[in-house]
Amino acid sequence: MEARYSPQHPDEVRRQSFSQYESIWHGYADARRALYPYEVPPWESREPYNIWFDMADHLEPKVASKVIDIGTNDGYFHRILRDKGFQGEFIGIDIEGKDLPAVEHLANRRFPDFNVRFMQGDAQNLKNVIGTNSTSRAIAAFLTYHVPMPGRVLSEMHRILEPDGIGVISTRGVTNQLDTWQAAQLVAHNNGFAFPQELPSPGQFKKGVPIENISVYSHFGIKQSQDALYQSRKFKVLHEHIQDSDLWIKADESGFFDYSRVVESLLPYTRNISSGESPKEADLEAMRSFINQVISSYFFTSAEKTRQEYGLDEPYYKSHANQAFFVVQAVK
Ligand SMILES: C[S@@+](CC[C@H](N)C(=O)[O-])C[C@H]1O[C@@H](n2cnc3c(N)ncnc32)[C@H](O)[C@@H]1O
Repeated sequence: MEARYSPQHPDEVRRQSFSQYESIWHGYADARRALYPYEVPPWESREPYNIWFDMADHLEPKVASKVIDIGTNDGYFHRILRDKGFQGEFIGIDIEGKDLPAVEHLANRRFPDFNVRFMQGDAQNLKNVIGTNSTSRAIAAFLTYHVPMPGRVLSEMHRILEPDGIGVISTRGVTNQLDTWQAAQLVAHNNGFAFPQELPSPGQFKKGVPIENISVYSHFGIKQSQDALYQSRKFKVLHEHIQDSDLWIKADESGFFDYSRVVESLLPYTRNISSGESPKEADLEAMRSFINQVISSYFFTSAEKTRQEYGLDEPYYKSHANQAFFVVQAVK
């Protein structure tokens, strides 16, 4: 008889069954999350702040009967909720559909008794996917700045929430891991590539675009979210949390691996300066080699300077986290 629980590590199941699944675990969201545990300065000993854990607590996982996760990506949030004692129904929605069957398969394999579903849908219009007043808890984590019409995401969240239902909306600030964008920009420029904001059309490279304009979509950072939510008649803001802290990445092999993975994960978004085309595998390979030579030297030199500046025993490379979330209640 087949064992209910697979003795294999779920990641192994994923590798064997879904080769395409690899892509989402190497995506930007996953890479970026790996830097946040470096939030503890070397002279402190405490658990690092984890914004996803904090957001999950506001959804009251022990008592919530259903959570809808809009912009679920690799479904990371269902694992957090589950770890926090959530026994209800979980629905993850993302506009990118190709990996969702694999995400669902993995979730069911990992937690066979957990009611988890993943569905494809556009957060700006979920009418065909989720009914009105259909949940008491919803989250849109690091989603609103990805969509052309973030106000519609808020309207849809309001629509699907029951009266007085709780929603969590998180976003990034302009200084969030800004240095990784700077590094990616340097890598791209040195290899004939640029970010779309610097390339209005192929062959027309616009010099001097501020890095904040490249790293953050033009809307729905912290300030814009605050303004929209506090002025909205659809929601009452119950709580806000703004994280603005340095990240102390130990300058060793694993620290550089985590940092360089974020830089690398940004490069597929660049375009060839002359043709406007996305980088091909050979281009990415050339850029990776630039990271290993030039960016690594910058990373370790900068870490040594930080060591001296702060009188530390070991070198640390300093990045920065600037992100926020808002807990809202649907007014109906
Ligand atoms: C930065 S990731 C955030 C992932 C996850 N919520 C987290 O907190 O790590 C943004 C996700 O939003 C998804 N997304 C972008 N536009 C969307 C839309 N219009 N509707 C639904 N999902 C969308 C992307 O495919 C991606 O998975």
